[in-house]
Amino acid sequence: MTEKKVAVIGFPVSHSLSPLMHTTWLRKYGIEEGVYEKKEVKPGDLVRMLEESFEDTAWRGFNITIPHKEEALHVCRTLTWRAERMGAVNTLFRGEKGWIGDNTDGWGAVRSLEEAGVDFKGEELRIVVVGAGGAARGITHAFLEEGQKSIVILNRSCEKARSLALSLRESHEGCSVEGYGFDKWHEVIREGDLIVQTTPMGMVGCPDFPFDFEGAKGSCVVMDIVYRPLHTPCLVRAREAGLATVDGLGMLMYQGVPGFEGWFGVKPEVDGSLRRSLLEAIGERD
Ligand SMILES: NC(=O)c1ccc[n+]([C@@H]2O[C@H](COP(=O)([O-])OP(=O)(O)OC[C@H]3O[C@@H](n4cnc5c(N)ncnc54)[C@H](OP(=O)(O)O)[C@@H]3O)[C@@H](O)[C@H]2O)c1
Repeated sequence: MTEKKVAVIGFPVSHSLSPLMHTTWLRKYGIEEGVYEKKEVKPGDLVRMLEESFEDTAWRGFNITIPHKEEALHVCRTLTWRAERMGAVNTLFRGEKGWIGDNTDGWGAVRSLEEAGVDFKGEELRIVVVGAGGAARGITHAFLEEGQKSIVILNRSCEKARSLALSLRESHEGCSVEGYGFDKWHEVIREGDLIVQTTPMGMVGCPDFPFDFEGAKGSCVVMDIVYRPLHTPCLVRAREAGLATVDGLGMLMYQGVPGFEGWFGVKPEVDGSLRRSLLEAIGERD
């Protein structure tokens, strides 16, 4: 039996839930040759590490996390269209002559929202995205690829929000994407059908999420991609305002699906038992 090895690479990487998630799937589908590890790789050592791993055919691929998502892109021989557009990779697959880089973060967010009942293929949604970093880039791209056309990006640095909005307008003809600073919060959320929080605000050890949802439409859905804590201040306040909410664990689970399927040949199921294992690992409850 030839071993099929995969690892998540980050710095630090000890907090990553990916090994637990993929190992749970490997056991569930009886893939005895599959191994999923974590590898702490310092910035500067990534390129050599990935090049050396390609020489060993037991390595089927990698997940890439902070801070390597942009640097890993330059090691890839081929990129999927979405990784190329997002300028970052989170999943590598073995190609014939080198690593193939993909970015599944936005896809994971879309699948998680669909599971919660958001219909991207139906009516045009007015979407508000808080943050303009790597995750926001992936998620906004994915929303536009789903056919959505109206996004407002709110960010601490207004300049960064504007710049992401401009690049999205350039890559997706006919869409309306605007970027503003946080001072527009109440004005913008009034119109929102979907609000997605992508900054670390409210995460353990980070500054609080400072806004409330006064004036938001009763039908608005709020997602926070932070999952430590699971019930973030953003989600708690949205629930207090009577809004439907989606936590960040769904995105985490779904973004892992394309990788597992590519490495091990089985499309894994995102289900309640996987969610319970991850909740237990982070000491949280639904
Ligand atoms: N659920 C999942 O599967 C999943 C996947 C990916 C990421 N995440 C989470 O998403 C978060 C963002 O990740 P990322 O890769 O996008 O990071 P990033 O590229 O570093 O971007 C961070 C963004 O958050 C903003 N920000 C940072 N600190 C802030 C603060 N104190 N107050 C207000 N805004 C602040 C930044 O604004 P400026 O431009 O003004 O600096 C920027 O827009 C992290 O917490 C990460 O754990 C979750």
